[in-house]
Amino acid sequence: MRAIRYHEFGGPEVLSLDSVPTLDPAADEVRVQVVAAGVNPCDALRREGLWGDRLPLIPGSDLAGVVTAVGSESGYEVGDRVFGTVPMLNVSGSRGDRQGTYAEEVVVRTDRLASLDDGISFAQGAAVGLVGCTAWRGLVEFGGLQPGGTCLIHGGTGGVGHVAVQLAAAMGATVVATAHPDRLDDLVAFGADHALDYADADALVAAVDALAHPPEVVFDHMFGAHAGVDIEVVAPGGSVVVIGGNHDQPRIPDLTAAIGKDVTIQPFDVFNLAHIDRVLHHLSTLLASGALTVEVARRYALDEAAAAHRAVVDERFVGKLVIEP
Ligand SMILES: NC(=O)c1ccc[n+]([C@@H]2O[C@H](COP(=O)([O-])OP(=O)(O)OC[C@H]3O[C@@H](n4cnc5c(N)ncnc54)[C@H](OP(=O)(O)O)[C@@H]3O)[C@@H](O)[C@H]2O)c1
Repeated sequence: MRAIRYHEFGGPEVLSLDSVPTLDPAADEVRVQVVAAGVNPCDALRREGLWGDRLPLIPGSDLAGVVTAVGSESGYEVGDRVFGTVPMLNVSGSRGDRQGTYAEEVVVRTDRLASLDDGISFAQGAAVGLVGCTAWRGLVEFGGLQPGGTCLIHGGTGGVGHVAVQLAAAMGATVVATAHPDRLDDLVAFGADHALDYADADALVAAVDALAHPPEVVFDHMFGAHAGVDIEVVAPGGSVVVIGGNHDQPRIPDLTAAIGKDVTIQPFDVFNLAHIDRVLHHLSTLLASGALTVEVARRYALDEAAAAHRAVVDERFVGKLVIEP
């Protein structure tokens, strides 16, 4: 089968279209014909060698497709539509994930998968896994967001952000969100009650001051840029959940303020999630009900993976990019 691989770390040019053997599934795995594979910024960071993986490597975590072979204990049947996300941190083998998803077929453990409703496109299924699990972990698992609560979500038109805004809105939360000033209408369309410029910290402080309750949860993917305002606006006893830094060594600018408010600062990695399949199942229900829509901004052929990697880092778009092998 055809798959994208890299044999050395480097820029997008190290991605090559290779012919690789098709694997057979173990008892708790299935083989999936990949109809769409989601592209995430971490795929590009990994390609640059940030995590020092064993090479050669097929990149990609997210997938949607059709089951073509089943392990004896998989619980799936050939022909089932599935979607999921593979924890690439463990592709070296420690938890059994064997391949990334930029390939015509991939063998995946079933606890990384869920059924894909007939009404949901493969592109949507491939786009939702990693970002949906991240949004869920940040808002619910670590943030403890309750129905009717209040949250602040930075970058609410990005891959993670646009799903987080919709999840919070579906919970009936008051959603304050930030984005580029040209994309504030998109934030409102995703369900934000207050849409603000991500570069205007004063406007954010003023908007939060005017709320009945400050946010119990602040969801930040660029902690280096926003740490100070996050701590200023989060409710006493609240949580700032952090998925990225933006600066090499993000610092807490006012530790005294954070201490004074009993703020929890919680960095986390989506792939430490214990039950990916359960969260995927909830995301599938939300997609099928229409409460969640994943924006697929652009689609690429398998041999255009390098262009997709350039775009996911350098270009601006609302939502997600997918590769369609
Ligand atoms: N820890 C984890 O488990 C985990 C999981 C998923 C993602 N991440 C990380 O989280 C980050 C976001 O991921 P993603 O998939 O959502 O990326 P993405 O789709 O590229 O979205 C990033 C968003 O950030 C916005 N942005 C740019 N400058 C900003 C600023 N100063 N303040 C706030 N927002 C700003 C961008 O808006 P414009 O393009 O409109 O300017 C874009 O909408 C990446 O660094 C990724 O590696 C970590």
